[in-house]
Amino acid sequence: MASGVSFSVSATDGRARTGALVTPRGAIRTPAFMPVGTAATVKAMLPENVRETGADILLGNTYHLMLRPGAERVARLGGLHRFMNWDGPILTDSGGFQVMSLADLRKLTEEGVTFRSHVDGSKHMLSPESSMEIQRLLGSDIVMCFDECPALPAPRERVADSMRLSMRWAARSRDAFGDRPGHALFGIQQGGLEQDLRAESAEALTAIGFDGYAIGGLAVGEGQDAMFGVLDHAPQMLPADRPRYLMGVGKPDDIVGAVRRGVDMFDCVLPSRSGRTGQALTRRGAVNIKNARHADDPRPLDPDCPCPCCRSYSRAYLHHVFKAGEIISSMLMTWHNLHYYQELMQGLRDAIAEERLDAFAQGFERRRAGGDL
Ligand code: GUN
Ligand code: ZN
Repeated sequence: MASGVSFSVSATDGRARTGALVTPRGAIRTPAFMPVGTAATVKAMLPENVRETGADILLGNTYHLMLRPGAERVARLGGLHRFMNWDGPILTDSGGFQVMSLADLRKLTEEGVTFRSHVDGSKHMLSPESSMEIQRLLGSDIVMCFDECPALPAPRERVADSMRLSMRWAARSRDAFGDRPGHALFGIQQGGLEQDLRAESAEALTAIGFDGYAIGGLAVGEGQDAMFGVLDHAPQMLPADRPRYLMGVGKPDDIVGAVRRGVDMFDCVLPSRSGRTGQALTRRGAVNIKNARHADDPRPLDPDCPCPCCRSYSRAYLHHVFKAGEIISSMLMTWHNLHYYQELMQGLRDAIAEERLDAFAQGFERRRAGGDL
C-alpha cells in the first residue's frame, strides 16, 4: 500500500466486511458511499452539509474538470479540495468511462482516446499518462487507472479485447503514477459478465499491484440479476487485504446485495440526481414528490428520518416547491437522499460489526416491500 494510506478490516459477516481506509485527509469508514461531485460540486449542496449527511469522501471526475475549468487552473488555485472547499478525501475517476458516454467523435487507439468536448467541441486526448497527470494536478487522494469499458450486451471478443487493453493501460497508469506517499492508486477490473475474463483481469491487476481494486463495467444495462451473478465471484478474485470498489452503483438494494457479496465502496449519481428530479429514496422505497397525492399531505417524507428536510418540511411543501421549480426543492430532496444513503451505509457497517447482516437485509427488504404509507 502507498505509504500514508492503510486499509484495515475490523469485522466480517459472511463475505461482507467493515473497516476503514485511512488517508492523510481522513478515514473512510467502509462500506462507504461516495456522493458524486462531478464538476467540483455535489449539486445543490454545500460541502459542509454533505459532510453532515455522514459522507467521508467525495468523487470527482477527470473528464469534466479537465474540460472545465481545466486541471492546470485548479492546480494554480490550490487544488480541488481548496477550490471546492472540501477538505476530506476525494477519489477521482479517470475519464475513459465518461469519454465513452459523453464526448463526441471519439477515436480509441492503443495510445489512448481522442475526442471532442461535449461542452464546446474542442479537441482533447486522454491516455493513461495524461489521466494520471490530470488527477495529480487536481490533488486527488484516490486516483483511478485509465480504463475502457464496452456497453453491454457486447460480443465476448469485444469484451475480451477491451479488458486486455484496459490491463495494458493499468500497467501504464501504475508506471505514470509513480510513488506518491499519501495518495492511492486503484486498478479497475473489467471483463463484462464473463467469469473467466474477470479472473484474467483480476490476475493482471494483482500482478501489477494496486492500493485498491475497483470492479468496473457493471451497471451498464445488464440488470441486477446479471450484476449479482458477477458479484457472486468477482470480489473474491481481488486481494482480501485491499478495498474493493464497485463503480457507479447503485440503487439501495444494489448496494445491500453488493455489500453482502464483499464490496467496500460505492458511488452513484442516483441520490443526488433523483433529488433534483423529484424522487425521494426512503426506507419504505421511492417516493415521487411530483405525485398529486402529496399536495395536501402535512407529513414529512419519512417521519423517522432525522434529516433537515424531514425535520422541518411537509410533503405538501416539497410537492409545491418542486412544481414551482424552486431551487430549494433540489436542495431539500438531495439532502434527504444523501442522508438516507449514509444512514443505510452506517446501518450496514453496524450490522456487519455485530454479525447480524442477514437480519438487517431482511428488515431492509420488508420495509421496502411494505411501501410508502
Ligand atoms: N464508472 C462506472 N463504471 C466504470 C468503469 O468501468 N470504469 C470507470 N473508469 N468508471 C466507471
Ligand atoms: Zn429525510
